Amino acid sequence: MDKFLIKGPCKVKGQVNISGSKNASLPILAATLLFDKTVEIKNLPRVRDIDTMLELISSLGFLVRRNYKNGSVKITRLKKIKTIASYSLVKTMRAGILLLGPLVAKYKKAKTSLPGGCLIGARPINYHLNVLKKLGMQYSIKKGYINAYIKTSLVGTTIKFPKISVGATENAILASCFAKGKTILKNCAIEPEIKKDLTNFLLKAGVPIKWIGKRTIQIYGVKKLKSISYSVMGDRIECGTFCVAAAMTEGNLRIKGFNPKLIKTELNLLKKTGAKIKIYKNEIHIIGSKKIKNIKFLQTKEYDGFPTDLQAQFMTLLCKAEGRSVISENIFENRFMHVAELKRLGAKILIKKNKAIIEGKTKFEGAELMSSDLRASVALVLAAIVANGISIINRIYHLDRGYENIEKKLSKLGVNIKRIS
Ligand code: UD1
Repeated sequence: MDKFLIKGPCKVKGQVNISGSKNASLPILAATLLFDKTVEIKNLPRVRDIDTMLELISSLGFLVRRNYKNGSVKITRLKKIKTIASYSLVKTMRAGILLLGPLVAKYKKAKTSLPGGCLIGARPINYHLNVLKKLGMQYSIKKGYINAYIKTSLVGTTIKFPKISVGATENAILASCFAKGKTILKNCAIEPEIKKDLTNFLLKAGVPIKWIGKRTIQIYGVKKLKSISYSVMGDRIECGTFCVAAAMTEGNLRIKGFNPKLIKTELNLLKKTGAKIKIYKNEIHIIGSKKIKNIKFLQTKEYDGFPTDLQAQFMTLLCKAEGRSVISENIFENRFMHVAELKRLGAKILIKKNKAIIEGKTKFEGAELMSSDLRASVALVLAAIVANGISIINRIYHLDRGYENIEKKLSKLGVNIKRIS
């Protein structure tokens, strides 16, 4: 198993390009099941979750031609399509559940493995199943698989989500593209990966899809999609992670390939901690301050609130702040696994239910650490960068699920980091 060896402290300086968004690519790749002709997706990040999604699509009988050099993929439907998403692939990546909506909508049936729980929380799929049922899908669960089918076609209707869910919103949008008539979905997730990218992709493919309220979308079902080529947006969380890296190391970083307007909340918070930030059309220039100010209370929320996927990274930054900060995790019930590892480096953090109380002024000292999940792992990398001495981070396969070439990008910026295989 690969590990990282990081020798700190280092400053993060220079220029970095943000890769394509993992969380925008996944539902767009799931949408390719709806096409009869070849569809091309560009700017895909080279990360393991994307490999897994493409393997899943290929296992259904699609021809998947990936160009690693320019980050694009061409996906073509072949004659015989299987409708089974197997356990061996879905177990490693929950987003496999996104194939359920497009498969039943287009092929009238699907057998999809239940994704199961994961370390950050139970992560049930009841909202996915309920919304698809309201569109006309019938299903039973047997031996760990959802066996779903429809008699003729899905039928458009008005549905309000009881709680905001990114994945369930995506599954419902994808299925509604082939539902008869008009579908209105209320209380949707409006993360830019959905409200901007997935919507624009489907519009370009010929789906009459429109946001008619802040969290309400209207979709008219179609019979066919137009063959298109589409380039996915930059990765919001990768961008936020590099911002934190600069902010906590007195760094000086130009971040290219991302629209700063999409992370206004995060940039305002970083300004509060003392970072100097200038924004341009597709670029952020951030200079970290010597004195980092605390944030009295920060809570994770659905977009356009502060994202749970940046909670661990901000916690690492706040360990270095002048005073005490509190972070409340409101999206996932068990997303503080990085805390025990940060403590090994010297952090003083107390957990009370879903709140973390972070004492500032931590002088991190290098240590051997264990990654537990994708975002927790990157928080450990950030801490190791500012720590004195050598840190070894084990099980970095978690990081490889969602960060493209992170060690190459960081070493170009002055971080002393090595992958040990
Ligand atoms: C997506 C993102 C993930 C991010 C999360 C929240 C992808 C591939 N993943 O995950 O990086 O952390 O949004 O922004 O885009 N829930 C239910 N029942 C359901 C569905 C969700 O109870 O059927 C709960 C979840 O357990 C969680 C909350 O709703 O507590 C939000 O989850 P959701 O927005 O669905 O997250 P994902 O789509 O899994």
